[in-house]
Amino acid sequence: MARAAVVGAGMTKFGVHDTPLQELFGQAALDTFDDAGITPDEVDAFYFGNAMGGQTENDTHLGPKLASHVGMAGVPVQRFEDACATSSNAFKNAVEAVEAGVHDVVLVGGVERCTPETGKDTPEMTRIFASASHRQYEQPTGLTFPGVFALFTKRHMHEHGTTEEHLANVAVKNHGNGSLNPNAHFGKQTTVEEALDAPKVADPFRLMDCCPFSDGASAVVVVSDDYADSFDAPVDVSGIGHATDVVPIGDKEKPHVTQAARDAAAQAYEQADTTADAMDFAEVHDCFTGAEILASEALGLVGEGEGGPAAAEGRTARDGEIPINPSGGLKAKGHPIGATGTAQIVELTEHLRGTAGERQLDGAERGVAHNLGGDAATTVVTVMEARE
Ligand code: COA
Repeated sequence: MARAAVVGAGMTKFGVHDTPLQELFGQAALDTFDDAGITPDEVDAFYFGNAMGGQTENDTHLGPKLASHVGMAGVPVQRFEDACATSSNAFKNAVEAVEAGVHDVVLVGGVERCTPETGKDTPEMTRIFASASHRQYEQPTGLTFPGVFALFTKRHMHEHGTTEEHLANVAVKNHGNGSLNPNAHFGKQTTVEEALDAPKVADPFRLMDCCPFSDGASAVVVVSDDYADSFDAPVDVSGIGHATDVVPIGDKEKPHVTQAARDAAAQAYEQADTTADAMDFAEVHDCFTGAEILASEALGLVGEGEGGPAAAEGRTARDGEIPINPSGGLKAKGHPIGATGTAQIVELTEHLRGTAGERQLDGAERGVAHNLGGDAATTVVTVMEARE
C-alpha cells in the first residue's frame, strides 16, 4: 500500500522570468490542475514552499496570495522554508496529511526567483543564499554555498581520490540530459575540456560545476492512496525520509558523508520496503557536481568513493546502470530553490508514467528523489513507484 499518490504534475520552464512570484506559480499550478483533471475548487489544502521571497523581492505571506491567484481562496495554506529543501518538505507534510485522513486532495508546490530579474545581482543573491548557513560561525567568515560544497568535495577528493575530471564528467552528463528537457534553464551541452577550462568559482569548482541562479515554479497534486484510483495516471509515493545534520560544518566529523541523506534514504527505503539496488533512476541535489557524487553514494546508488568513477564510466548516464538526473539536475535544469523539490517529484512522475518525452528512461518503474537544504543540513528523500 502506498503512503499517497501523485495524480497531477506541472512546472514552468526554469530560467529567467520577469513575472511576479504569484503569476509564475500560477502557470505551474494551472498546468498541474490540467494534468490532474481537476479544478481549483476540488483542492482541500495548499502546502507550498518559498525560501527567500522576503529577502529577494519583499514578498512574504505568499500563501493566500498564491491561493487567491489560482482560484483557491479560502483553502488552508501552509508555507515551508528549508532553504533548498523547501518544497520537498512541503510535499512530505502533504503526504502525511492525506495519509492521516486530514485532507483528500492537496496542491503542493514551490516558487522562487533568483536571477537579476529580482533586482539582485550574483554577489547580492549569493549573500542572501548564505543566510541559510550558520549565522555566528559561517557567515562572518565570508563562506558562501559554492565554498561550503567545495569543502565537502575537497574532503571527498582527499578520502577517495576523486578528481576534477570526475566532476567535469558529472557536468557533461547533466548538461547532455538537460539538452533533452524543454523546461531546463540550459539547453547547451558541454565537454570535459570546456568544463575543465572554465573559470574557477571556489576550488575545486569551476563555472561548469555550479548550478545557476534560476527563476521557476513547480507543483503536484497529492491524494490519498484510496482516492488515487479515481484519477487517470496515479504514481505511488511509497516512502519519504526526512533528516537533519549538525550545523555548523566545523562540527561535522565527516562532511563528505552527508549523514542526513543517509538517514533520510534509510527511512524512505524502509517505508517503501525496498533497497537502493531496486531503484531504476534518481533525481539528486546536484547544486554542484561534487554534491551529486556525495548524494549518489549516500543513497547507496553507487559504492563509497565510486561516485566520481561512476560518472566518468557512464554508469550514471541515461543508458547506464543507474541513470542520475535525467532532467539535467540542478546543474542544467536550474535551481529556483523553493521550486526544486517538487520539480524533482514532477520528473519522477513523468518517467514513472512514461510521459517524459525525448528524455524518457526505458523501463522506469521505481525512482528516488534527494533534495537537500543549507550545509546538507536538511535532507528529504522520496521513493516513488509506477502504480500496477
Ligand atoms: N553553469 C553554466 N553556465 C553558467 C552558469 C552555470 N552555473 N552560470 C552562468 N553561466 C553562463 C551564463 O549563461 C553566461 O553565458 P553567456 O556569456 O554565454 O551568456 C555566463 O556563464 C556568465 O553568466 P553570469 O550570469 O554573468 O554568471 P555569474 O558569474 O554572475 O554567475 C556563478 C556564475 C557560477 C558564480 C553563479 O551561477 C553561482 O554562484 N551559482 C551557484 C548558485 C548557488 O550557490 N546556489 C545554491 C546552491 S546550494
